[in-house]
Amino acid sequence: MEIKKVVVIGSGTMGSGIAAHLCNADVPVTLLDLTTDISTKARDRIHKSRPPLLIDKSKINNIKVGNINDNFDTVKEADWIVEAVVERIDIKHQIYKKIFNNRKDGAIVSSNTSSIPIKILSENMTDEQKKDFCITHFFNPVRYMGLLEIVKNENNDLKKINSLKVFCENELGKGAIVCNDTPGFLGNRVGVYAMQVAMTEAFKMKLTIEEADAVFGRPMGIPKTGVFGLYDLIGIDLMADVLKSFVKELPEKDKFQQVAKEIPLVKKLIDSGYTGRKGKGGFYRMKKLENQKILEAINLQTGEYSESKKIDLKIDTVDLNTIINRKDKYGEYAWSVISQIIKYASSLVPGITNKFNDIDEAMRLGFNWAMGPFEMLKSIGVKNFFNRVDEFKGNKFLEELSVKKDENFYGERQIYTEIETLGKMKPKALSLEKNKSAEIYRFKDFNIVEFTTKACALDYDSMDSLKKATDKPLIIINESMQFSAGVNLSYTMDFAEKGDYKSIEKFIKYFQDTCKQLKYSKFPVVSAPSGLTLGGGFEVMVQSNFVTSHTNIVVGLVETMVGLVPAGGGCKEMLWRWSKSEESKKDLDFAPLKVFEIIGYGKTASSPVEAEPLKYLLPADKKIMNRNSLFPEAKKVIDENKNFKPNTECTFKLSGKSVREKMFKTLEKLYNDKIILDHGMTVGKELANVLSGGDTNSEKILTEDDIYKLELDSFMRLIENKKTQDRIKHTLSTGKPLVN
Ligand code: NAI
Repeated sequence: MEIKKVVVIGSGTMGSGIAAHLCNADVPVTLLDLTTDISTKARDRIHKSRPPLLIDKSKINNIKVGNINDNFDTVKEADWIVEAVVERIDIKHQIYKKIFNNRKDGAIVSSNTSSIPIKILSENMTDEQKKDFCITHFFNPVRYMGLLEIVKNENNDLKKINSLKVFCENELGKGAIVCNDTPGFLGNRVGVYAMQVAMTEAFKMKLTIEEADAVFGRPMGIPKTGVFGLYDLIGIDLMADVLKSFVKELPEKDKFQQVAKEIPLVKKLIDSGYTGRKGKGGFYRMKKLENQKILEAINLQTGEYSESKKIDLKIDTVDLNTIINRKDKYGEYAWSVISQIIKYASSLVPGITNKFNDIDEAMRLGFNWAMGPFEMLKSIGVKNFFNRVDEFKGNKFLEELSVKKDENFYGERQIYTEIETLGKMKPKALSLEKNKSAEIYRFKDFNIVEFTTKACALDYDSMDSLKKATDKPLIIINESMQFSAGVNLSYTMDFAEKGDYKSIEKFIKYFQDTCKQLKYSKFPVVSAPSGLTLGGGFEVMVQSNFVTSHTNIVVGLVETMVGLVPAGGGCKEMLWRWSKSEESKKDLDFAPLKVFEIIGYGKTASSPVEAEPLKYLLPADKKIMNRNSLFPEAKKVIDENKNFKPNTECTFKLSGKSVREKMFKTLEKLYNDKIILDHGMTVGKELANVLSGGDTNSEKILTEDDIYKLELDSFMRLIENKKTQDRIKHTLSTGKPLVN
């Protein structure tokens, strides 16, 4: 069954997200609501959304809008009708009646409900209608969240459900997990329980919200919003509704009930408009003081706000055992939360699914956890877990495991998909070498390098792994959210603070040598980026021979924001790319001026479609919707390049002083208009020096090494400058750029 046209009914948060994502997949879609005014406003919101819901904003008008009275005829032509109206059964029932009276034979009808059982949704349908009805539960924001839960009913035509699953995997790029009709399905049942446990325990153990978020975060492989930050992000009122529906749907003896009770402080926040980021604030709030914004955190005991304190647990990588074995309140909290999550998730097998692996993958795709509860158990070690855990009577999964004590209980990963993913391949590959920042795997006749640091920030060790791995065809890829946010700034600042600039220089030189080795390797090098691919991360990607990019990529050279210039070949590669444009054939200064503008403003692109006009990505680079397919696609590139010929070195002609003066003019204007300040001027001049070719003229031929040298010299002058260091320190502590 082919899906060529879709109608989405309900243009709120979810309906508009789903319509936008269908548009991303070039599927004609119509968005209907009570009035055309509502759906038109929804389309405007899509257009303005940040982060953008659309991969290509110029396609916004491919989303047709209308209302359910005048435009219901569109349903007659649709192959799939998605209902995403408010969570009210009476309204949903009315809509289904109307849909089934109008849809063409065999068209799929699905609901995006997050809490109403399919049995109730479909209670008024005939068996014939039920055959084509299911739940397709997308997560918010639809473009970015990987999970799609598909819930069947007993009458379903399974072939059709499977073709919908394949469509959602291949065209929409979702990790589609088929699950049973149980409250909250897989992701929310375990994810919301986990949040409630983390919150309840924080109250009980008298932790501050910053402490709880620091523990229930990076060390556990959970996004840094932790629990209270996530509550604010989702909306405290929405969470309260979700909990009410769990309380209603779940049996009284379900352990969820114990952590779902209304908390007085939460009620008080909602009643006073503190519904989270969309409201006046939530557990955290921003206080504006003249020109300054101060982040405040609530005191769970008193309900008062005070300036938020950063908690540094000194754990940079996901490390369960270190955190649960700490002999302090953090260790105690971590163990209490993790053990309860493992106990609860395992108690649901086989009740909500007989494949425990699906629960783990739902947590990865729907909550961005680095590992699910069962992988957590594996990582703690079966024996260790049972030595420490209290009672688990009636939990069949744990009872069996406690007898077998099988450390290898886990088996294969990602069994929900046929795609040969990186996650499936890793356990079959040989781990050749591992340092604190990266790991090299050998699979058949090629290598894989996976960065392993926070946000995959790069340092000497990451470069070391890349360099060593070029003895075979190489794929640079990882399972974490970001390809790489760039060079590790705290690593660089540590040296700067000791005045050890020699070590910084050595590192940057090594970075350049490594990138050069990637570019001129005897064997093909493929980068498979997803998420942040910034600064040094971009330089690694751009100096690989091939790129297979995920459509959710944020790419660019942002060094000037922290008072630096790209020095790992970023300036060089951008110059080279732009020098091959038509305009450059006529005007030698075209490329340097264009690159000066792109790097100077630290421009980023949030999709391949935005990246190509900047030449951050090229038309030949592959663009892939499903993140799971990045690995097989990269592997295909290696297979297709058995007779790979290494690159030949490129050379440059730049006009030196004459183009530099044009750049200085631009800088002066920006300075006079107060868009840049003193240090902006200094950084701009250094960038101009690199991009103009330094002390050269239009007759002279410059090698790549010449440009690398210019990059390095400018970088070193800037890193030694106190104002650059101020910028870096500011960005490290606030996440924002400093204008000085
Ligand atoms: P919303 O409140 O943002 O939007 C609902 C939309 O439905 C509104 O635009 C409203 O005008 C429209 N509507 C109401 N009655 C209608 C009718 N008779 N015909 C056509 N349109 C009608 O709701 P949201 O958040 O988008 O939720 C939609 C569905 O998705 C709900 O079933 C919800 O449980 C589910 N869901 C929500 C998630 C979220 O994060 N917001 C996540 C996953 C599922």
